[in-house]
Amino acid sequence: MSNTVLQELDDGVLTVTFNRPDKKNAFNREQWTAFDQILRNANTDKRVAVVLLKGAGDSFCSGADLSDFSNSEPADGVEPFDACAEALIEFQKPLVAAAKGIAVGGGATILLHCDIVYVGESLRMKFPFTSLGLVPELASSVQLANIVGQRKASEIMLSSEWINADRARQLDLITDIYSDEQLFDKATSKAKELAKWPVSSLVATKVLLKKTNLATLRQALVDEKSEMLRLAGSPENREAITAIFERRQPDFAQFRKTAEAEPA
Ligand code: COA
Repeated sequence: MSNTVLQELDDGVLTVTFNRPDKKNAFNREQWTAFDQILRNANTDKRVAVVLLKGAGDSFCSGADLSDFSNSEPADGVEPFDACAEALIEFQKPLVAAAKGIAVGGGATILLHCDIVYVGESLRMKFPFTSLGLVPELASSVQLANIVGQRKASEIMLSSEWINADRARQLDLITDIYSDEQLFDKATSKAKELAKWPVSSLVATKVLLKKTNLATLRQALVDEKSEMLRLAGSPENREAITAIFERRQPDFAQFRKTAEAEPA
């Protein structure tokens, strides 16, 4: 069992903790695989009624581990991230999230697939894909607009802006805000409240709620993957990642200048 994604079952609620707090719970390949397995097992485990997601330390999750973009060889077969994305959009039991601090990249897009999202006052959320020279992932290119509407989704995705807890609530991106100290207790009691009901009814209800969107979400995963493969590792993407690790602003203007210099 992975110690970077922990799980604990109590009274029908499976609490899953992303556990790499020194990296703001960034997800490397091992963690995507562990989370994928946990979701697939929870889907069929009759003891599990509800899954509650949280991060260890001061943050929820800072998304994919950026060093994986440059350091790792592609995996054989299905990439761990892709398998996990599929498991998440196909997941049939209620997902409750308790998110505080950083929720960036995958840390933000996972929340779009949760049914109830409680956040702490410290929440700082970002869909950073344009600022990384990439495109949205985890079907967020569709699911964000499903939640906040097309106009707001365009602004959020294109600007890669920071969203705090109050703005997230205005946008209906989250369910409610609590103090960081109260957050986990509130989320646990909500998860237990749902877990009182028959699992068969929770599952059938969630499946019905998701039914009209599911084919679109599946297609979004395919379309996003194809654009991601085209753009990952591009000069712009490499500059974005280097800038984050060097703690400086990226210089994307250098790439525009090259294009201007070409003859008409
Ligand atoms: N991948 C790898 N390492 C990450 C990470 C990520 N996604 N997010 C944070 N970390 C690491 C930092 O490099 C730092 O490591 P260090 O202590 O060895 O230097 C540590 O986690 C703590 O992060 P730090 O940057 O010091 O915290 P912060 O509060 O100043 O900033 C973020 C937090 C999340 C804003 C910033 O780390 C960041 O922008 N990370 C990239 C997030 C991202 O773009 N994710 C999407 C990937 S698709």
